[in-house]
Parts: sequence; C-alpha cells; structure tokens
Amino acid sequence: MTCMEILRHVVVLIHLVGFAILFGAWVVEVANRRHRVTPLMNIGLGIAAVAGLILAAPWGISYDLNYVKLGVKFVIVIVIGALLGIGVGRERKTGSVPPGIFWSVGILTLVNAGIAVIWR
Ligand code: HEM
Repeated sequence: MTCMEILRHVVVLIHLVGFAILFGAWVVEVANRRHRVTPLMNIGLGIAAVAGLILAAPWGISYDLNYVKLGVKFVIVIVIGALLGIGVGRERKTGSVPPGIFWSVGILTLVNAGIAVIWR
C-alpha cells in the first residue's frame, strides 16, 4: 500500500468516527425518549462533512469517484445541518424539537450511510 492510500484510509476512518458520533448521539436520544438535538450531533456531522469533502477529491485511489453520489450525499449533509440548526432554535423557543425534525436527522444520517455502502 502506498503512503497516500494509507492516509486516505485514515481519513475514511475519521469519516466513520463522525458518522458514529452523529448517529450514536441520535440513538441515545431515541433510547432515552428525549428526542432533542444535542451538540454531539453537530460535532459528528462536522467531522463527517469535513472528512467527506477531503475524500471527495480523487487522491490515493486508482478508480473513478461517483460524483453524482457524492453530490447527493453533500446535499443531504447540508439538509441535516439545517435541521439541526432549526431544531436547536425551536428547542430554545418552545422547549422541544418538532418530531419531524428529530426523526429526519436520524433517518437522513442512515440514508447517507446507506448511499455510501449500497450505491456504487
Ligand atoms: C452524515 C453524513 C455522512 C455519512 C453518514 C457518511 C457515511 C459514509 C460511510 C458509512 C462510508 C464508508 C462506506 C465505504 O467506504 O464504502 C463513507 C464513505 C465515503 N464518503 Fe461519506 N458519509 C457522509 C457524508 C459525506 C459527504 C458530505 C461526502 C462528500 C461529499 C462524503 C464522501 C465520502 C467518500 C468519498 C467516501 C468513500 C471513501 C473511500 O472509499 O475512499 N461523505 N461515507
């Protein structure tokens, strides 16, 4: 393996850590029936988004990237970020996050992971 390939795999690992933090933080809310948006979700999304954008450049690979797929993933990340922002605002104002916003965050996160592994 070349140095670049190892480095790319390290960034993939960081990308997965971001996904784990975002999705894990969301599952904790489901398990505790709180249905809030938490700072950990923002941190996880930020890590996944930055690492994802670095991976969206063609380095350390010998195959072509699927830019349509990456574009879709990017749009979904922006939507999740917007939902987290709106969720925090609504929670501050009304004391709770609308269920549609809370559930969409988890489902869209899972959809993005699904796109990553199923859409080749
Ligand atoms: C919540 C947001 C995201 C989640 C849950 C997510 C999930 C994943 C997962 C599970 C993988 C590993 C699958 C595999 O290697 O086959 C992956 C890989 C990847 N993701 Fe994401 N992703 C997210 C956002 C993004 C964004 C915004 C981009 C860039 C536009 C991106 C670009 C990539 C790339 C390029 C890979 C392949 C890495 C490689 O094999 O070299 N991801 N993502």
